[in-house]
Amino acid sequence: MLLSTILSLASAALVSAHTIITYPGWRGDNLVTNASFPYGMQWMYPCGGILPTQNRTFWPTTGGAVAFQPGWFQGHATAFVYINLGFGTDGPNGGPPNMSNPMVPPFQILGPSKNPYPGTVCLPQVPLPVNASVQAGDNATIQVVELAVHGAALYSCVDITFVEPNDPRLADVNESNCFNSNDIGYADVYTLTVRASGQGNTTSGAEHRFWYFRRHNKGSILAYLGWMPVVLGGLWVLL
Ligand SMILES: *[C@@H]1O[C@H](CO)[C@@H](O)[C@H](O)[C@H]1NC(C)=O
Ligand SMILES: *[C@@H]1O[C@H](CO)[C@@H](O)[C@H](O)[C@H]1NC(C)=O
Ligand SMILES: *[C@@H]1O[C@H](CO)[C@@H](O)[C@H](O)[C@H]1NC(C)=O
Ligand SMILES: *[C@@H]1O[C@H](CO)[C@@H](O)[C@H](O)[C@H]1NC(C)=O
Ligand SMILES: *[C@@H]1O[C@H](CO)[C@@H](O)[C@H](O)[C@H]1NC(C)=O
Ligand SMILES: *[C@@H]1O[C@H](CO)[C@@H](O)[C@H](O)[C@H]1NC(C)=O
Ligand SMILES: *[C@@H]1O[C@H](CO)[C@@H](O)[C@H](O)[C@H]1NC(C)=O
Repeated sequence: MLLSTILSLASAALVSAHTIITYPGWRGDNLVTNASFPYGMQWMYPCGGILPTQNRTFWPTTGGAVAFQPGWFQGHATAFVYINLGFGTDGPNGGPPNMSNPMVPPFQILGPSKNPYPGTVCLPQVPLPVNASVQAGDNATIQVVELAVHGAALYSCVDITFVEPNDPRLADVNESNCFNSNDIGYADVYTLTVRASGQGNTTSGAEHRFWYFRRHNKGSILAYLGWMPVVLGGLWVLL
C-alpha cells in the first residue's frame, strides 16, 4: 500500500516534469512508444528520433551547464552517460555532420532501482570538446547518451547557438533546472588492459583473459563479465 503510493507519487513526478534535458533545453518530447517506434523513440540514433530544430537555445562559448533526468525508463539501475557535441549545420537535415566530439569522459550513474525513478543530474561546467574553437553565433548540437546495462542507448539532443558567457540571452542556471538528486550516485569508468593490440596471432590473448577472470572469480557474475572486452570499473560497486 505504502509502496504503491510511493510508486504512483514517483510516476506522477515523472509525468509532470516531462523533460529529459532540463538545461539548456531539448529538441522535444521523444518519450513516446508507438507503431512508428515500437521499441521507443528515444532509442533512435543520433537524437532520439527528433530532427534538427530551428528554435535553438543559447549556450556559452566557454562551455556551460548541462542537466538531464536519466530515470524515465526501467533498466537504468546503472547507466553510462556520454555528452557529445556536433558542430554546425552541414549534416543531414541541417544538423551536424557527426556527433563524434566528446565533451566529458564517460561516467556512470548509480540509480536507486531498476524501475523508473525521478531525479536530475547536473554538470554545472561542461567544457567544449578538446581542441574545439567556436565563436559567438556558431550553431551546434549537444547530445546526451545514456547507455543501459544491456548496451543499447537512449539519445536526447538540444540545438544551440553559441553566445559570449555574459550574454543576457543565456537562461539562468539555478536550483530548479540544474541540481543533483540525492538518490542518484556516480562512479568513475575505467578500463584495464588485459592484452594490448598488435601482440601476435595466437589465442593466448583470449586465454589470458579467461585466466584472469578465473583467478579473480568471486562469483558467477564475474566469470560472465570475462566476456566483456573492457572491464567497467563502476560495476565493481555492485558486486
Ligand atoms: C523547441 O520547440 C519544441 C516544440 O514546440 C519544444 O518541444 C522544445 O522544447 C523547444 N526547444 C527549445 C530549446 O526551446
Ligand atoms: C509516433 O510518435 C511520433 C512522435 O510523436 C510521431 O511523429 C509519429 O507519427 C507517431 N507514429 C504513429 C504511427 O502514431
Ligand atoms: C544558426 O541557426 C539559426 C536558427 O536556426 C539560423 O537562423 C542561423 O542562420 C544559423 N547560423 C549559422 C551560422 O548557420
Ligand atoms: C565530424 O565533423 C567535424 C566537422 O564538424 C569534422 O571536422 C570531423 O572530421 C568529423 N569527424 C568524424 C569522425 O567524422
Ligand atoms: C589536439 O591538438 C593537438 C595539437 O594539434 C593534437 O596533438 C591532439 O591530438 C589534438 N587532440 C584531439 C583529441 O584532437
Ligand atoms: C530558473 O531559471 C529559469 C530560466 O533558466 C527560470 O525560468 C526559472 O524561473 C528559474 N527558477 C528559479 C527558482 O529561480
Ligand atoms: C597474422 O594473421 C595475418 C592475417 O591473417 C597474417 O597475414 C600474418 O602472417 C599472421 N602473422 C603471424 C605471426 O602468424
